[in-house]
Amino acid sequence: MVKRGIDVGSGSGIWALEMAKEFPEVQWTGLDLFAIERRPSQPSNVEYVKGNVLTGLDFPDGHFDIVHARHLITAVQNWRPVIDELVRITKPGGLIISVEICFPITVYNGTEEDTLKLAPGFAACHNVFMAAFKARGTDLLPGYTVATLLREHASVKETGQLESIFPFTPCTDDPNAIEAGRIMKENVLSMPESTRQIFMSKPGVTEEQFQQIKAGFTNDIERGIPLAAKLWHNWAWRR
Ligand SMILES: C[S@@+](CC[C@H](N)C(=O)[O-])C[C@H]1O[C@@H](n2cnc3c(N)ncnc32)[C@H](O)[C@@H]1O
Repeated sequence: MVKRGIDVGSGSGIWALEMAKEFPEVQWTGLDLFAIERRPSQPSNVEYVKGNVLTGLDFPDGHFDIVHARHLITAVQNWRPVIDELVRITKPGGLIISVEICFPITVYNGTEEDTLKLAPGFAACHNVFMAAFKARGTDLLPGYTVATLLREHASVKETGQLESIFPFTPCTDDPNAIEAGRIMKENVLSMPESTRQIFMSKPGVTEEQFQQIKAGFTNDIERGIPLAAKLWHNWAWRR
């Protein structure tokens, strides 16, 4: 019987909250660098705790039946110790689930070349982000890395993968992807301003150049070009 589940890097805590509502018989934990305060309407079978997956989690071996970690791409540079830790806290027979975006973001169903042609303003900005991520040592294909590490892990007996899309603007005919893309679009539009420091830290970049890059980016997003990245869902059963 499933007794305990954890979301590592839980952010707003939404995944653990949804699980707590859907599976009231399971005790759920959301763990993040920053603890979330108890919400008045929070079910009693979810709690939020502080922890750092990079330095080791304060749980005994095999504590959880389900271990979930999503969108840790910018948090992790070396995935091996993180996967070791996620496997360690999973009970024998338990399930580890990882969901990670893989870059680049391109026009939906297109290549980087297509993106450069169809959305040059977006591509110019995206390339600056990618270069900044690379310089920080971010693994831009974490889905592939996680898949390999889980498959080769001595304490894992079976793995599976599924690839879906992560829409950045409304894409495809799927109403869910369109809705997700609509929500994402609002976040995407704020990207140049929220990453201004990355641009301005490049030698010789002026405020005028930054404004030009931002205008090109915003124009491509507002034109409604469908943009997406790959989303990798990896899972593994603990031996
Ligand atoms: C992009 S958010 C994803 C949040 C959530 N998993 C989701 O899918 O909505 C990444 C989260 O990982 C957390 N995080 C970063 N480094 C971490 C670490 N070393 N240990 C635990 N959490 C970490 C951040 O605080 C942030 O809340």
